[in-house]
Amino acid sequence: MTTALVVGASRGIGLEFTRQYLAAGWTVFGTHRGEDDRRMLGELGAQTLKLDVRDAADVAGLAWQLDGEKVDVAVVNAGVYGPRTSTIAQPPSPEEFDTVLHTNVLAAMRLVPVLAPLLAPRRGTLAFVSSRMGSIGETNSSFGALYRVSKAALNMVAKLAHNEYGALGLRVVVLHPGWVRTDMGGPNADVEVATSVEGLRRVIADPAGHPPGGFFDYQGRAIGW
Ligand SMILES: NC(=O)c1ccc[n+]([C@@H]2O[C@H](COP(=O)([O-])OP(=O)(O)OC[C@H]3O[C@@H](n4cnc5c(N)ncnc54)[C@H](OP(=O)(O)O)[C@@H]3O)[C@@H](O)[C@H]2O)c1
Repeated sequence: MTTALVVGASRGIGLEFTRQYLAAGWTVFGTHRGEDDRRMLGELGAQTLKLDVRDAADVAGLAWQLDGEKVDVAVVNAGVYGPRTSTIAQPPSPEEFDTVLHTNVLAAMRLVPVLAPLLAPRRGTLAFVSSRMGSIGETNSSFGALYRVSKAALNMVAKLAHNEYGALGLRVVVLHPGWVRTDMGGPNADVEVATSVEGLRRVIADPAGHPPGGFFDYQGRAIGW
């Protein structure tokens, strides 16, 4: 039985990963915060796990809830954009900084040592849903400053996880889903969530074409760091 863990499965890209892996016959553990989302994910057929990624106790609890499980693919998807108007000319407030960096970066740093032992026995894939906006090399404007800073830092977390756990058989990849029509992407985004996730699943399923330690978009193209 093939097993996926989707961190942040309640909406948008994470919910679509859950739906698609379930449709493919996989066992899916999906994390949620709200009770309605637990019920909705359960009705879809997912195993549900309560997890606020900003809560260290919740992340630690994930380890014992998944004790003994072996996971083929873990998708670290939960994320926030933060203030829409953030530019480098307007520094974020400490509260804004804390919310975005805590959710997008510290949570990932806490999740890596919890997820690696679940994935390594299956030579599994740890996929971080980052963003092209976190590519330093491809940044040519200053909008979305706080989000960009957080995703650039997340990319480094992924590289470090690759360096630390790659030798144990773990494959770490960083993913850019495109600009996707979700609550975060908004109604004017140009990619359907189903199209994005179909593409991201193809990247995850193709280690030969998308080797460990790489940064890829939903169409399979490599992105510069
Ligand atoms: N949409 C885009 O165009 C786009 C582009 C590039 C990258 N991305 C990345 O793709 C990922 C998913 O984005 P999306 O568009 O699907 O966003 P979304 O529709 O806003 O969904 C965000 C997901 O993250 C979860 N989440 C947020 N804070 C959390 C926390 N503290 N603990 C646990 N879960 C938390 C949400 O859970 P709740 O329902 O409980 O809030 C929800 O499941 C994000 O990492 C985002 O940065 C998106």
